[in-house]
Amino acid sequence: MASNSTLNVPSFSFLLLLFLAATLLSGIIPTTSSKELPIREATVLDLQLAFKIAWDTNLKENIATKDKLNNTADSFALHGSVVPRDSGFAKRLRKSGAVILGKASLSEWCYSRTLNAPNGWNARVGQGKTDGSILCPSEVNSVVGIKPTVGLTCRAGVVPISPRQDTVGPIRRTLIDAAYVLEAVAGIDARDKETIEVSQYIPRGGYSQYLKIDGLRGKRLGLLGAAVEFFLGNDTFRKETFKKHLRTLV
Ligand SMILES: *[C@@H]1O[C@H](CO)[C@@H](O)[C@H](O)[C@H]1NC(C)=O
Ligand SMILES: *[C@@H]1O[C@H](CO)[C@@H](O)[C@H](O)[C@H]1NC(C)=O
Repeated sequence: MASNSTLNVPSFSFLLLLFLAATLLSGIIPTTSSKELPIREATVLDLQLAFKIAWDTNLKENIATKDKLNNTADSFALHGSVVPRDSGFAKRLRKSGAVILGKASLSEWCYSRTLNAPNGWNARVGQGKTDGSILCPSEVNSVVGIKPTVGLTCRAGVVPISPRQDTVGPIRRTLIDAAYVLEAVAGIDARDKETIEVSQYIPRGGYSQYLKIDGLRGKRLGLLGAAVEFFLGNDTFRKETFKKHLRTLV
């Protein structure tokens, strides 16, 4: 398993972000005594502003947080475990304004306990939604995952599998979101020595400066036709959807 930790953004948390944006921007904080919550649709500007104020996220359950959430890697062996501190990853997320809403389940011990269990299964909650890496769930959910170079993000406080391969990265709805999250979480952390050397490769001014609306203009894209056949096989719906997106790109 190349990467053992991911950050998930289910659509419900996106809706919550919309809701947060709408309420923050209308200046009304809902209270329990409100009979009706003041909800209006947020504009893109609202969302950008809300992103600056606070953003919501979901961590995978193998990433430690010192709060009321469980830290079990979805194994009963770690049930009730108390961690000494937030993981380096969670610490940076909170510092950048993230509100950690919950944790996503995973293949028990990131699928390192046995290869005979169904993908995404664990004894604690049963069948979950994702495998233990960044790229697979991103591909399956048609969202953006960034698998950082090992050491770009801190692994301290994340259940380890392989120090040479473990890496923690974002899964977000858009590339812009993913770039901002990467910017927030990349950097030196004394608890993960690998981050010291790798930090020299972090661009001054962060990653978001490279976001360009026409960034793909003039680029050549290669597509392995046989791989599309292999992975999508007889699934004509997915194949058609894939081709449609490809036409959008070119
Ligand atoms: C923590 O795990 C226990 C046992 O699986 C569960 O009952 C409880 O709801 C979990 N707590 C949170 C905050 O998810
Ligand atoms: C596609 O369908 C053919 C004919 O039914 C079948 O032999 C083949 O195994 C299927 N391929 C995949 C990837 O499901």
